[in-house]
Amino acid sequence: MLGIFKWISKIGEIMSDDEIVKSEVKIYHPSEDIIKLANVKEYEETYKRSITDPEGFWGEQAETLSWYKKWDKVLDDSKKPFFKWFVGGKTNIVHNAIDRHLTTATRNKLAFIWEGEPGDTRTFSYHALNREVSKMANIVKSMGIRKGDIVTIYMPQIPELIFAMLACAKIGAAHSVVYAGFSSKALKDRIEDAKSKLLITADGGWRRGKIVDLKNIVNDALEDSPTIEKSIVVKRTCQDVDMVTERDFWYHELEKEPFASKPCQTEVMDAEDMLFILYTSGTTGRPKGVLHTHGGYSLYTSTVHRMVFDIKDEDRWWCLADPGWITGHSFIVYAPLINGTTTMLYEGAPTYPNPDRIWEMVDKYGVNVFYTSPTAVRGFMRFGDSWVKQHDLSTLRLLGSVGEPINPAAWEWYYNVVGGARCPIMDTWWQTETGGFMISPYPITPLKPGSATRPLFGIAADVIREDGTSTDPDEEGILVIKAPWPGMARTIMGDDARYKDVYWSDYEKQGWYKAGDSARKDADGYIWVIARLDDVLKVSGYRLGTAEVESALVSHEKVAESAVIGLPHELRGNAIHAFCILAEGNTASSDLEKEIKEHVRDELGPIAVPEKINFVNTLPKTRSGKIMRRVLKAKALGQDPGDLSTIED
Ligand code: WTA
Repeated sequence: MLGIFKWISKIGEIMSDDEIVKSEVKIYHPSEDIIKLANVKEYEETYKRSITDPEGFWGEQAETLSWYKKWDKVLDDSKKPFFKWFVGGKTNIVHNAIDRHLTTATRNKLAFIWEGEPGDTRTFSYHALNREVSKMANIVKSMGIRKGDIVTIYMPQIPELIFAMLACAKIGAAHSVVYAGFSSKALKDRIEDAKSKLLITADGGWRRGKIVDLKNIVNDALEDSPTIEKSIVVKRTCQDVDMVTERDFWYHELEKEPFASKPCQTEVMDAEDMLFILYTSGTTGRPKGVLHTHGGYSLYTSTVHRMVFDIKDEDRWWCLADPGWITGHSFIVYAPLINGTTTMLYEGAPTYPNPDRIWEMVDKYGVNVFYTSPTAVRGFMRFGDSWVKQHDLSTLRLLGSVGEPINPAAWEWYYNVVGGARCPIMDTWWQTETGGFMISPYPITPLKPGSATRPLFGIAADVIREDGTSTDPDEEGILVIKAPWPGMARTIMGDDARYKDVYWSDYEKQGWYKAGDSARKDADGYIWVIARLDDVLKVSGYRLGTAEVESALVSHEKVAESAVIGLPHELRGNAIHAFCILAEGNTASSDLEKEIKEHVRDELGPIAVPEKINFVNTLPKTRSGKIMRRVLKAKALGQDPGDLSTIED
């Protein structure tokens, strides 16, 4: 079998997570200025209180939001792990993100600034946002959508994407945003799972100077969709597209209908009513629809955003992510708007037309807080300092990182070159399932590059051994959350059993949430997240399941079996490497490799295409037929594969 691994040459030389964590740690203390400004002035006492009296702590925080009716009980834990928060409370996330601002000075403030890739810009005050969202809401309603329906949204990063999300929430429909980088097949699967009757989309979006023809992808996906009845199409890129009569409607035409500009009432929702589902990858091939609710999610995301990023009235906040993933849901759209902040949305590629596109925008708009992924940081770093230094970035006060562990070299570059050695970096660990940040510094926290530092208020995070005991300092273990929090996912849509099984079954007796990551805690209680423990890959910060990629591979007629692993990659954090056994009568070739890669692109989308496909004759399996991916990975990295007693051959 050794022959299979001949292709591996230098991968093992990249610093492993292990080495990153163990190398010498420098501590960065916040400046007096940062401490003076901080919304959170003290950690230890508040943390202790938030853990011993979570209901008191969260009840108090919830007073910062506006409720149609106050809750009867902060937490109902009678049906573990199906926790309920703010039971009996009535609200709507839009009531807090828009409506309540309309009677204060915030009404006239910019809610968001949008810039298209070609350089066109649009800005909206809270007043204007309300007008646009009401219009979209009236239109969505006119398509027959009612409270409780799920609307699928598949859009480029344009203002109408934000309007669409908020419009659904406003009328009590849930949204399911599908990242516009996903293929028609992936879109179709998600539409079917959610049983959506309505799709909101656009003709296309701009990326690297080219049109991404979304309508074509949508037409493929809807060819034989059993549920979609209608679709709303926003005109963005203006190329010719095929519109299906009776099914597809141009938004700019609907907008002109007299009913569209009528006022639209925000629906009164129960705190526990569904706000959205967002599909994310797990260990099986079937993506799961993680479900969040109006009450707890509103409170949790806005609280952590305000505290971690020290949000001030005069701030301009930029989360450089795609609204198609949880980071965009929580921190481009909902939390900033609830906090009455000015948030930004950029349509295109971050290094287009030049590597300084982002810094040019930070300068132009006077951004104060900037939040992005380590992959993006490494991507900028690759172009060198001069692209950053051409611009005045002195408005920046805080920086943030999310999606994967940040390697100290990227951290230092981000801190020194982008942040001018002045801006603390908030390395936020969290997940689609957690709604918002869980482990992260506050601006007052001394920083160690590569560590997300300590759990936020109300978050009982710990690192444990398999038997449930806490690990010793620096010992690697399993990351768990030992108590519920308001922003937690409530279930996987339509599959309570799977929700319970994936997250809560390992420590059912104790009632602990298993995050699926490995981590270690150092002597100061700082948590260092290491990697996923399951078959989930983080590629460029995007979350993908090995099983999804494998099923895309074997759906190619010439592939009989496949296994997928992630290997360290300098830029992307991890790269997908596939091992394929070909079906009888086929021979390996670079043309075939190309053909199979193309097939994966069609099945799932560009982010899922393997870096390398290795053609093999056999795969390491257990006697019960399970592929031992850890053996493939260890071999690929030139490491000891560990216990092989269960291997079949
Ligand atoms: C990883 C993204 C280290 C982790 C918000 C987690 C991180 C998964 C960090 C969730 C971080 C996220 N440091 N690892 N600061 N942030 N992760 O659902 O493995 O796309 O379990 O949510 O990303 O990915 P998801």
